Amino acid sequence: MDFFQGFVYDPHHLKMKKKIKKIAILTGGGDCPGLNAVIGSVTRSAINDYGWEVWGIEDGFAGLVEGHMHPLTIDHVSGIFSQGGTILGTTNKANPFLYPVQKNGKLEFRDASHRALRLFKEGEFDALVCVGGDGTISYAKRFAKEGLPVVAIPKTIDNDVPGTERTVGFYSAVHTATEAIDKLRTTAASHHRVMVVEVMGRNAGWLALASGLAGGGHVILIPEMPFDLKKIYEKVLQRSSKGARFTIIIAGEGSHPADGKKVFQRKAVGDVSHPERLGGISYWLAENIEKNTGIESRAVVLGHVLRGGSPVYQDRILATCFGCEATHRLAMGEKGMMVGWGKGEHISIPLKKLAGGVRHVPKNHQWIDVLRSMGAIFAEAE
Ligand code: F6P
Repeated sequence: MDFFQGFVYDPHHLKMKKKIKKIAILTGGGDCPGLNAVIGSVTRSAINDYGWEVWGIEDGFAGLVEGHMHPLTIDHVSGIFSQGGTILGTTNKANPFLYPVQKNGKLEFRDASHRALRLFKEGEFDALVCVGGDGTISYAKRFAKEGLPVVAIPKTIDNDVPGTERTVGFYSAVHTATEAIDKLRTTAASHHRVMVVEVMGRNAGWLALASGLAGGGHVILIPEMPFDLKKIYEKVLQRSSKGARFTIIIAGEGSHPADGKKVFQRKAVGDVSHPERLGGISYWLAENIEKNTGIESRAVVLGHVLRGGSPVYQDRILATCFGCEATHRLAMGEKGMMVGWGKGEHISIPLKKLAGGVRHVPKNHQWIDVLRSMGAIFAEAE
């Protein structure tokens, strides 16, 4: 992967179509490693390349509705590139079009987009950079339709934003999962156990697929391929009969049996884009595998550990390039678009052309074939 290919705009030879003076940036949705690198990149490029004023909006769209924002200088973003989380804060409960408000001790949802638009205007901002996943980007899309000059930057460990092959945070989560799998393999082998490792990713299997490939999983379960439990038992027994001391199963949190449902952990109060939280399929799998194969099985849910820690180098580079790409495209007069990565180069997609929903793993993805060549199975139901 060459991150430097296709970087279309040279900031020093730009013909600026619109005189921008002041921009704002927010991070929305679940956090991930690399968000601070995006914030740093946008801030530095805006100031160094164009002399713009930059403001940070706190806690995603909540800050734009509530008016919580502050200026960002080079000093503010100095040294944050390697830090996980987001210095601006974030939330996945601030849909400005269905904004949660407490009324007489009860939670109600109101359209607060007019307040966000008013504060944007009063702040004399010329553009808004929205760093987010499918939820945040869908709000950016609606605001763009209402005339707000926005540019979106895709981030999420799930790697499931339509229109881009990569999102900031994905590589770091894969790295964390891979390290965890390496550790779990040694304890599984010592005890002749099956280890079921559950990774996040919601309804897309990218994280399970990539960490299964990098971590050497024997059974990979992704939401896109509903599974047949019997095929998992067969694989476990077959490995054991050949003398293998362990079997590693990577289960995406959204994976499910063909004749069964997804496992949900809890309801997320106030999150109208994704009200249900997946989680727990690995416990159900481990219990059934042990019962039906007689081989001791354990479940490990990696959960929010995947969202923490320092971004790996691939995310730092992607985040920094996405940030610069966003400011350069704004300077060129582009708005209402998302920057992205496709077919080996940096791209920009008009928000109005962006498909809704999530980007799923296609059944003919190369990693699926490669995993099969390695002897792994997906246990998909016929
Ligand atoms: O979308 C990112 C993600 O980490 C998903 O993989 C996961 O299902 C969800 O967010 C968890 O959300 P929360 O942090 O609200 O529990």
